[in-house]
Amino acid sequence: MSKIVNIKNKIKNFKKIITVPGDKSLSIRWVLFASLANGTSKAKNLLMSEDVLAAIKAIKKLGIKIVIKKKECKIFGKGIDGYKYKKNLTIDAQNSGTLGRLILGLLINSPEPIKLVGDKSLSKRDFKRVSDPLSKFGTKFKLRDNKFLPLKIYGSSKLKPIKYLENKGSAQCKSSIIFAGMRTYGTTIIKAKKSRNHTELLSKHLKLPISIKSGKKFDEIKIKKVKKINTLNYDIPSDISSSAFFIVLTVLLKNSELIIKNVNINPSRVGIITILKKMGADIIFKKIKNYKGEKKADIKVVGAKNLKAINCPPHLNSGAIDEFLVIFLVAAKAKGVSYFKNLGELNHKESPRLKWAEKILKNLGVRTITTNDSIKIYGNPNLNLKFNKKITIKNYLKDHRVFMTSIIAALSFGGTWNIHDKDSINTSFPNFLKIIDDLKK
Ligand code: S3P
Repeated sequence: MSKIVNIKNKIKNFKKIITVPGDKSLSIRWVLFASLANGTSKAKNLLMSEDVLAAIKAIKKLGIKIVIKKKECKIFGKGIDGYKYKKNLTIDAQNSGTLGRLILGLLINSPEPIKLVGDKSLSKRDFKRVSDPLSKFGTKFKLRDNKFLPLKIYGSSKLKPIKYLENKGSAQCKSSIIFAGMRTYGTTIIKAKKSRNHTELLSKHLKLPISIKSGKKFDEIKIKKVKKINTLNYDIPSDISSSAFFIVLTVLLKNSELIIKNVNINPSRVGIITILKKMGADIIFKKIKNYKGEKKADIKVVGAKNLKAINCPPHLNSGAIDEFLVIFLVAAKAKGVSYFKNLGELNHKESPRLKWAEKILKNLGVRTITTNDSIKIYGNPNLNLKFNKKITIKNYLKDHRVFMTSIIAALSFGGTWNIHDKDSINTSFPNFLKIIDDLKK
């Protein structure tokens, strides 16, 4: 099968109901919490993607049994101290920053050194941002060039609690420290810039000794040593970050309508909805429900008639951090100049995404002014590429979100596209192209 996807035609209007796979952040967190529980935890709708399978492989290496069936995944936890640390253990986080960073928090008391490796993309990403605070607990690290994978973690049995200021708005850093705090006597205190709060909500749901004081820009989290974690049966709601591609496709298609079923709408994740609504999109949540500390709903989107530019308030950034590439496609078609700032973190993702945004928009003939941490997009409401405009997207470190954004751009704006590395979607959204095909029927 070809690894290049060729698109020559825009998509026609649709009126559909779809379901996207389980949330990636929740799936990885469920695997990690369940691996520490006393007994058998079950998950339904666990995301079956490479990132989550890497998490499953990681805990298997730590001696935890897992059974995956079509509809259900079972993890046989052996308690908070149930990991088996073999000599010369290597854990491969593959493409997953979330797995790589979160699991380090759980390994800080390992009696054996453990090597952490990742793929080409993950090996370019900053791990010092977690090894620095984790070292303060008493753990030691050796990183390649003091910053990158492969790294070695040398756990300690004499951990001390820490005070930590997380000011990047990184949920991965915050969660890694929460996990480390769960292993440490005393109270670990984290002041964290707002970011997705699934780890905190799951900890609360599991009645772990955590307290959260929610401020406007920062939260204060206190976590004490955890003695026992109860089993966690979880029906994972669908991923809003995966939904985002279809939300944008619908917004860009005047006479279309889409319902996406049962999506996690945690307030720390719905930045895309707030941003697109400000730009004139018509999106509503239906059948809102609370679920084990999280919120879920069906999302209804209709094609927008008039899109307007946005000067995007930076406080919305962390809630939309994985969605900016597709959000920029909406800005490309909006009337006026959109401005997105304080987005340096985008260049720390699976690929340098601000740079890729600039490249994709340039291919579309859309003017941008891009800096290291901001982008101005000169929108064109009549954006429409000629059939003979050829665009090739390749060498993007197989960043799944670059691939999917390119597909949405091709289907929305026309032109003839060759989009390489189709396999990139396997990290987060293996049936993405199947859903696109369903929308075409
Ligand atoms: C994630 C946090 C975010 C996000 C990533 C998933 C998580 O990364 O980009 O896709 O599950 O905690 P940062 O914490 O680096 O912002």
